[in-house]
Amino acid sequence: MKAAICTKYGPPETLEIDQVANPVPKDDEILVKIISTAVNSADVRVRGMAVSGILRLLMKFVLGFTKPRKPILGTVYSGIVIGMGLKVHKFNLGDRVCGLTGYDFGAYGEYVTVKENSVVSKMPEKLSFDEAASLIFGGQTAIYFLDKLKIAERKQPKVLIIGATGSVGTAAIQLATYYGGLVYAVCGSDGRALMEYLGVSNIIYYDKEDFTKLDMKFDIIFDAFGKTKRNRCKHLLEKGGVYKTVGGLEYASESVDQLRLIMRLWKKGVYKAIIDKVYALEDIVEAHRYVESGRKKGNVVLSIGDNPDSPINFDQEIQKISVG
Ligand SMILES: NC(=O)c1ccc[n+]([C@@H]2O[C@H](COP(=O)([O-])OP(=O)(O)OC[C@H]3O[C@@H](n4cnc5c(N)ncnc54)[C@H](OP(=O)(O)O)[C@@H]3O)[C@@H](O)[C@H]2O)c1
Repeated sequence: MKAAICTKYGPPETLEIDQVANPVPKDDEILVKIISTAVNSADVRVRGMAVSGILRLLMKFVLGFTKPRKPILGTVYSGIVIGMGLKVHKFNLGDRVCGLTGYDFGAYGEYVTVKENSVVSKMPEKLSFDEAASLIFGGQTAIYFLDKLKIAERKQPKVLIIGATGSVGTAAIQLATYYGGLVYAVCGSDGRALMEYLGVSNIIYYDKEDFTKLDMKFDIIFDAFGKTKRNRCKHLLEKGGVYKTVGGLEYASESVDQLRLIMRLWKKGVYKAIIDKVYALEDIVEAHRYVESGRKKGNVVLSIGDNPDSPINFDQEIQKISVG
């Protein structure tokens, strides 16, 4: 199959399109023909090994010392089930599914195998593949952190979200609003239209105003940008107010329940897909450059599969898989 391969840590140009062996599903796995994936901040971080200190050592220990042990990066996918092992019960051929591979990576290729009990879910009927791929990364991270901040237990909390236009930020705005929060967003001036689209009218533009000087208190401060220290904003917290950042040593853990919540919220119309750009797999280098700029709005999708609207011909798919 065709895949984007990362043969060493380095700049976007280290990514190459190549032919690799097709994955074969084990007894408890499904084989997914990927239609869309997304290029996320985490992929860029892994490819560039853009961390320092003890974290760098830890990351290399987990991911590989000189190059990624799993050269096909990509952690989120949406696609169609085209094969499965003998012990799979929850999925059928032709199911439209989306999910997260996490540290197993593998989503920058035409096919991936995942355990039926992994973070994978059937997709709602009208959700497109591009939308599905774009909802997952920011959505799961925002759910994890807002859950830790116990947002559901607070009555109409005032929520300050820093880095509001990114993948995590746009998801956090929508989730905080769903939980009854009154959102204040910190972003650059060019984020205005997106904030208004998400229903946020309290916007603090970091290129015009220092949010730490606001004369206002918040029940929750969530730094979805990851570079604001608690000390710089703790005076903005109400008594009993709480702060979390994506930039510390705490990592969002992923679960299938979070994924199911994302699907439910999409169906209710309260969590929308925010897609900035869509690239073809062949343009992976350019996609990584753009995401690395740190200025994307919402999500960047990578389109991998053929037109998903045509019915799948399973005989043809199986033939493709067996020849290469
Ligand atoms: N701990 C975890 O488990 C975890 C999980 C996922 C992600 N993360 C981290 O979370 C961070 C955000 O991830 P992401 O995927 O949402 O990234 P992203 O989509 O690239 O978004 C980053 C956002 O940061 C904003 N930004 C840039 N400079 C800023 C500033 N000075 N003040 C406020 N906002 C600023 C940008 O907004 P403008 O365009 O408005 O400048 C951009 O929208 C990354 O550092 C990532 O590594 C951590």
